[in-house]
Formats: sequence, structure tokens, C-alpha cells
Amino acid sequence: MANDNTKPACTRDELDQSRYLTRKILFKKQPVSAIIFAFDGDPYAYVNHCMHMNRPLDCEQDAIFDETGLYLRCSMHGFIFDPKTGECQSPVCFGQRLQSLRLKEIDGTLYFAEKHLTLID
Ligand code: FES
Repeated sequence: MANDNTKPACTRDELDQSRYLTRKILFKKQPVSAIIFAFDGDPYAYVNHCMHMNRPLDCEQDAIFDETGLYLRCSMHGFIFDPKTGECQSPVCFGQRLQSLRLKEIDGTLYFAEKHLTLID
């Protein structure tokens, strides 16, 4: 079994000092980006891919949260998502979820804990 410690996402300090971070990954053999952020003190990661029209959440502006800071927001058409579950709250895609990526924190570093994930550069 692959060792999760070989897939560092970022340090906890980097995350705490950023609104969000992105990482290029291969997930299930597809090159995609991951978004990583902290919400209510906990780290979360998702594949950066809005199911509405297949765009990254930050495709139109350098932000992944709405103005309230309570919801993830796709900058293409403004669909919003629960940051803890990735569930879309907007009518067209209501209930569909962003692909979550498990994280594991060890000694101040967050690692992707996904079997079918490989870091790109
Ligand atoms: S592509 Fe994300 S809301 Fe339309």
C-alpha cells in the first residue's frame, strides 16, 4: 500500500496564511488541480472542478469563497457549495458534490490521503 506521507499537499502554516492553495495532481489518471483551504479551523481539499460547466472555481477570479466567507463559490456563474461537504446549494446542480480529497495532518504538514492521487511537479 502506498505511503500517504509521500503526497504532501502543504504545511499547516502555509494554509493558515493563505485564502486557499492549489496543487496540480493526477487524480484517477486525470490531470486536475486541487484546492486546499481551512474552514472553521479544519483543512479541506477538493478537485477544483465545478460540475456545472466543467470549470475551476477560480477560473474568473482569484477566489473560491463568496463574499460572506460561508460558501465556496464558482467564479464562472456563481454557484455556491458547502465548504464542509462540497454539496452544491444552487438550484441547477443542487445536491451534487465537488470531488473531495482526504487530507491527513502529520507534524504540521497536510498530506493527501488518496490512493488514486499523484502529485504533478
Ligand atoms: S461553471 Fe461553475 S457555476 Fe457555471
